[in-house]
Amino acid sequence: MVGQSLAPQAGLMRPTPGAACAPTGRSSGPALEAQMPNFAILDFGPDIDTCHIESPIDATDFAAFERRFRPLVERRGEVHRAVPGAATWPDCEPPREKILEYYLTVVALGLQPQTAYLDVASCVSLFPNFVAEVVGAPVIRQDLHYTPGRRTVSFPRLLDDSTRSASAAVRLARRLFRATRPAPGDGRPELDTAVRIECVGSDACAMPLPAEAVDAIGLHCSLEHFEGDADGRFADEAFRILRPGGALLVIPFYCGFDHFETVRPEFAVGCQFHRNYDPRSFAARVLSRLPRPFFVDVRYYTNHAAIDPSFYCAYSICVRKGERQAAAAGARPAAADERA
Ligand SMILES: C[S@@+](CC[C@H](N)C(=O)[O-])C[C@H]1O[C@@H](n2cnc3c(N)ncnc32)[C@H](O)[C@@H]1O
Repeated sequence: MVGQSLAPQAGLMRPTPGAACAPTGRSSGPALEAQMPNFAILDFGPDIDTCHIESPIDATDFAAFERRFRPLVERRGEVHRAVPGAATWPDCEPPREKILEYYLTVVALGLQPQTAYLDVASCVSLFPNFVAEVVGAPVIRQDLHYTPGRRTVSFPRLLDDSTRSASAAVRLARRLFRATRPAPGDGRPELDTAVRIECVGSDACAMPLPAEAVDAIGLHCSLEHFEGDADGRFADEAFRILRPGGALLVIPFYCGFDHFETVRPEFAVGCQFHRNYDPRSFAARVLSRLPRPFFVDVRYYTNHAAIDPSFYCAYSICVRKGERQAAAAGARPAAADERA
């Protein structure tokens, strides 16, 4: 895996939060390579507006997020059973790496209550429920293997009152989300017992959703499993569904020095295929298909393996629909103030 093969050595870590951004026109070169010597600098070519953001993970923030997330892991069976079509799938406790990916998504996307969020190839992920419960945003979850069609499902609310109280973790979550979630019930009893999430069973390349339906799309350990040319066709579809200024986040981003594809009997539920990109293949297969304007933020998680040797999330990529300055003014790309 790229994250493992490129994992930085502890001695090469940078202690300070980065957000060191090499702007358009300086998307690669000796300076960046010297700054992050164990990472491939993902240069998609001179015509792609790319910002490279050195993003060491804040271990304290992440630990607080993990505590906040824990009740969902403990009660995951209740989410699993409610996902249409998933009841017979094997139970699997999400590894710590998964929680890291969800944390990094919150940071990268800057989700807020008014952000309509679509979790693509969601499988039995707990993240859509976390967003619905904690951020209070409208959420859609989608997967090829869900029961076909669209339906709104009432999921049990799993983060209990004790985790909603003003613990450090909750304060952290509120700071990250820049929003205060409603008080329990907030005068509406249904808020205490259920969160409503729309579930979509379809190919991600042809989702039964209207144009410009959402502000943010996230894929966790997913795009790399899209077979044939489904990665490029999904990119077309994502840009149809995203509103102007909206963001498409792929994490981990399996990209590095080499392009290779692997077939194994079972990577995950229904997944037998895995693709690792190099920058050129990703540009050709995915970015070249997207209508302009758009711009790209690549985050380099330079200390991931030092925080936990099991972590392999070395990169994420966020593609924003629109001009960079327009999106920065409205749906901000979070990098500059993600640790504010
Ligand atoms: C590793 S799982 C995703 C895990 C999940 N995102 C999480 O965070 O736990 C990969 C998922 O990709 C889905 N998938 C593969 N090809 C797809 C496609 N063309 N459209 C939608 N989903 C697809 C599979 O059904 C599977 O559930």
